[in-house]
Amino acid sequence: MMMLSPDPWSWLMAGATAFGWAGLSWHCLRPPRAGPRHEADLLILWASQSGTAAGLAGALAEQLSALSPRLLPLDQLSATDLQRARRAVFVIATTGAGEAPDHTSGALERLQKAVPDLTQLSYALLALGDRRYADFCGFGRRLEVFLRNHGARDLLPRAEIDRACPAALARISRDLGKVFGAAPLPPQQPSRWRLIARRHINPGSPGGALYALRFQPEAMMPDWQAGDIARLTLPGEAGPVARDYSLASLPEAGWAELILRQVRDAQGRTGQGSGYLTRQLAIGDTVPLQLRANPGFRARDHAAPMILIGNGSGMAGLLSHLRARAAALPAAGTCRLFFGERSPAHDRIFADELASLQACGLSLQIERAFSRAETPRYVQDLLHNHAASLREDVKGGGHIFLCGRREGMAGAVLACLRAGLGEDLWQKLRTENRLHQDVY
Ligand SMILES: Cc1cc2nc3c(=O)[nH]c(=O)nc-3n(C[C@H](O)[C@H](O)[C@H](O)COP(=O)(O)OP(=O)(O)OC[C@H]3O[C@@H](n4cnc5c(N)ncnc54)[C@H](O)[C@@H]3O)c2cc1C
Ligand SMILES: Cc1cc2nc3c(=O)[nH]c(=O)nc-3n(C[C@H](O)[C@H](O)[C@H](O)COP(=O)(O)O)c2cc1C
Repeated sequence: MMMLSPDPWSWLMAGATAFGWAGLSWHCLRPPRAGPRHEADLLILWASQSGTAAGLAGALAEQLSALSPRLLPLDQLSATDLQRARRAVFVIATTGAGEAPDHTSGALERLQKAVPDLTQLSYALLALGDRRYADFCGFGRRLEVFLRNHGARDLLPRAEIDRACPAALARISRDLGKVFGAAPLPPQQPSRWRLIARRHINPGSPGGALYALRFQPEAMMPDWQAGDIARLTLPGEAGPVARDYSLASLPEAGWAELILRQVRDAQGRTGQGSGYLTRQLAIGDTVPLQLRANPGFRARDHAAPMILIGNGSGMAGLLSHLRARAAALPAAGTCRLFFGERSPAHDRIFADELASLQACGLSLQIERAFSRAETPRYVQDLLHNHAASLREDVKGGGHIFLCGRREGMAGAVLACLRAGLGEDLWQKLRTENRLHQDVY
C-alpha cells in the first residue's frame, strides 16, 4: 500500500533533477538492446516496469562500454550465463506491492530452482523504488538475498534509489566508474518544452477534471513510440518535483500530448504537479521535460489483436497505441477498447477522434462503462460480458494493454481478466509478455 506521509526525499530528488542525473537520463529514450551473445566478463541486467531501470542500465552500458558489457533483461538471463559471469551489475525496479516487474515475473524463481553456485561472481546491485511504498525496493532486496545465498560477493553495498533520485544516480555512476575504471557520463541539461494548448475535456463531469495538454520542444522534436513516458520537473511546495505522464501522441503530430487528471486531496487542495500543470502554467510557458522509453508498454506486433483497457487519464497510454495503429493501416490488426468513466453525458472523452479513426478504416470496437449512469457499470463488468471474445483474441496472439490508476481499477481488472481467460490462457499471456501495464 502507498503511504501518504510527506517525505523528505522529494525535494532532494527534484532539486537535482535539472542537473546531476540528466546526464544519464537522456539516454533513456532508447530502450536498451540485448548485448551481443559473447562470453562477456561483465553482465548488465535490468528489471523495469516503466522504463527507468531499463534506461539506467542502457546508460551504464554506455558508461562501461570499454569493458564490452552484455546488456540484457533479467528474464533473458540463463542460470548458465550467470554461473559463467565474473562480474554483474543489476538494475532492479520494484512494482505492485513489492513485486517484480511484469517482464521478469518468475525469473528469480527459475534461477533459484537451477541453484547455481555463484562463488565466482562479484556484483553491484542498484535497487529502484519509492519509499512511500511499504515494501521499499522489495524485489531488489530479494534478488540480493538470492545472490548472497549462492555465494556471490558485492563490489559495492546495495544502492537503494528512491524515486530515481538524480543525485543518488549520479553518485552511483561515479562509484561504478571507480570500481570499473570508467569516467561518469557528462551531465546535460534536460530540454525545455513549451505549453501550446490546454483543453478541459470533461466539463460538467462528476469526476475530477481531465485536461489534454500539448507541448512543443524548444529544440528539435525527438523521436518516441506509443507507450512511452514524459517526466516533467515542476515547481513544488518545497522545491521542484518530478512527475511522470503517459504520452498520448506520436511525434508525427508535432507535439507531445498528455492527458491529466487534476487530483485533489480530501481538503480540496490540488496535487502539486497536476495543480501546477492545469492551473498555473500559462500557454507559452516552458517546463523541463524528458522522454523515456517504456519497453514494457510498447507494441511489438501491429497485426496482432489489441485489447486496450483503462479509465480516466489512462486514455493517454491507450490513445497513443490507437493513433499508432491508425498510422499502420492497412496492416493494423483489430482493436477493442474497454474504457471506464463516470458520466455518460460528460465523460465520453476523445469520442470524435475515436470515431474518425474508425471512419479511416481502423477496426476498433469501443465499449464504455459509466459508474454514474442509471445502471452503474465498471470496466471489469465490460470484460466479464465480453469474456468469450477476449479469450478468442488472446488465443489468436492478442496483446492486452492496461493503463490508468492502480487504485480502484487495475486490481479488479486483472482479477476479472484472469477469471475470464481461465488459468491456462492467463499463464500463457503472462509468460509470453502479452499483458502490458502502465498503471500508477
Ligand atoms: C508511469 C506513470 C505514468 C503516469 N501517467 C499519468 C497520466 O497519463 N495522467 C495522469 O493524470 N497521471 C499520470 N501519472 C500520475 C502522475 O505522475 C502524478 O502522480 C499525478 O499527476 C498526481 O501528482 P500530483 O503532484 O498532482 O499529486 P501529489 O501532490 O503527488 O498528491 C496529491 C494528492 O493526490 C493523491 N493522488 C496522487 N495521484 C493521484 C491520482 N492519479 N488520482 C487521484 N489522486 C491522486 C495523492 O495520494 C495525494 O493525496 C503517472 C504516473 C506514473 C508513475
Ligand atoms: C504502480 C506502482 C507500484 C510500485 N510499487 C513499489 C513498491 O512496492 N516498492 C517500491 O519500493 N517501489 C514501488 N514503486 C516505485 C517504482 O519502483 C519506482 O518508481 C521506480 O523508479 C520505477 O522504475 P521503472 O520505471 O524501471 O519501473 C511502484 C511504482 C508504481 C507506479
